[in-house]
Amino acid sequence: MGNRTALEALTQRPPAFLRSAWTWRCVAYLLGSVVPGAAVGLGVMVVGLAGPPVSLLLVPVLPALVVPLIARFERVRLRLVDTVPLPPVPDRRRREAGVAVMTVFAMWWIDLLMLGFTVGGPVLLILSPVVQPEVVPAAGLVASVAGVLLLPVAAYTITAWGGARGAMVRAVLAPTGSELSEVMRSRARLVDAFETERRRIERDLHDGAQQRLVALSMTLGLARLDVLDDSPMARTLGRAHDEARQALAELRELIRGVHSQVLTDRGLGAAVRDVAGRSPVPVDVDVDGLGRLPAPVEVTAYYVVSEALANVARHSAATRAAVTARTAAGTLAVEVRDDGVGGADPARGTGLTGLADRLAVVEGRLSVSSPPGGPTLVRVEIPCAW
Ligand SMILES: Nc1ncnc2c1ncn2[C@@H]1O[C@H](COP(=O)(O)OP(=O)(O)O)[C@@H](O)[C@H]1O
Ligand SMILES: [Mg+2]
Repeated sequence: MGNRTALEALTQRPPAFLRSAWTWRCVAYLLGSVVPGAAVGLGVMVVGLAGPPVSLLLVPVLPALVVPLIARFERVRLRLVDTVPLPPVPDRRRREAGVAVMTVFAMWWIDLLMLGFTVGGPVLLILSPVVQPEVVPAAGLVASVAGVLLLPVAAYTITAWGGARGAMVRAVLAPTGSELSEVMRSRARLVDAFETERRRIERDLHDGAQQRLVALSMTLGLARLDVLDDSPMARTLGRAHDEARQALAELRELIRGVHSQVLTDRGLGAAVRDVAGRSPVPVDVDVDGLGRLPAPVEVTAYYVVSEALANVARHSAATRAAVTARTAAGTLAVEVRDDGVGGADPARGTGLTGLADRLAVVEGRLSVSSPPGGPTLVRVEIPCAW
């Protein structure tokens, strides 16, 4: 059952709707109004019995006691007609008080009247042969049949009112638009989470592993000074020293992939020139006029260019590549093209799909054109108005 609210259930085809539990849920929902009704009756009675001096005191005290209880009750019974969770809102207390006031002053008796008329009418008609035996039997039978025929109509009326009432309560408890801003905020949180994690890894690598490798490399260098130049020991130490130096170089490269200092300090244009300069395939870079952009946009675009150029080097067999980056109409467009063999396919690796995931976070778009035989073009668009 894909229906989440009574109002949604109304749009089903009649047989499906009439067989569903929604009408019963709405009956239960509306019957619940007996509770606030009883509370109001009790309150009026207590005030009346107490008499003037005490009742004057009770008038402000009673609502203060009752309103939170009724608010809680409304929140719980809303689930009968509306199963969508309520988003958290900052002014929850005030909104709940609004719902309670609405229930106490108007809704509870409208609910009960509604229920009374829609159910009471058909039921009385059906029972007319029993309750009015003095009427002609044929007429009583006709009334019964009419009553039975009216029951599905009653189901629609009750569900419609239950659903509409639920929608009113939801509108007061959680205004529309509150969910939307929640999604946007969590998007921003996700970007922040990426960013924090990225910085942590970069710091750990930089302060931990890299420092140790530097120390190891120096120690090996010193050890080489202590042994005779042409001894077997010297050759082994020399190899170890070279390995350590290579490991250090690889680690530095890795850190730059995780975190580009150039990007943070001087922006996307400079960072793109930097990666392009280290590419084994010659790259023409055109990033003129690119100012500083919001950090999430710069970081995402940087990852795209790094990954695309890594792909050019690893898979394309290209002789030349080009990167262009432009902002126009509030959108950053970055293109990486190469004249290689083509046939790039996101399904065959993790790089391109990973980029698409990152782009979804900043509401960007990634498109790849790479027919067999080439050329390959990777294009991203990211909105910059963050
Ligand atoms: N510029 C390119 N030229 C030719 N083939 C490419 C290019 N970029 C990617 N491909 C192909 O598409 C596949 C998917 O790329 P990608 O998602 O980056 O995965 P990965 O690089 O991890 O293999 C690669 O395995 C490669 O076969
Ligand atoms: Mg790749």
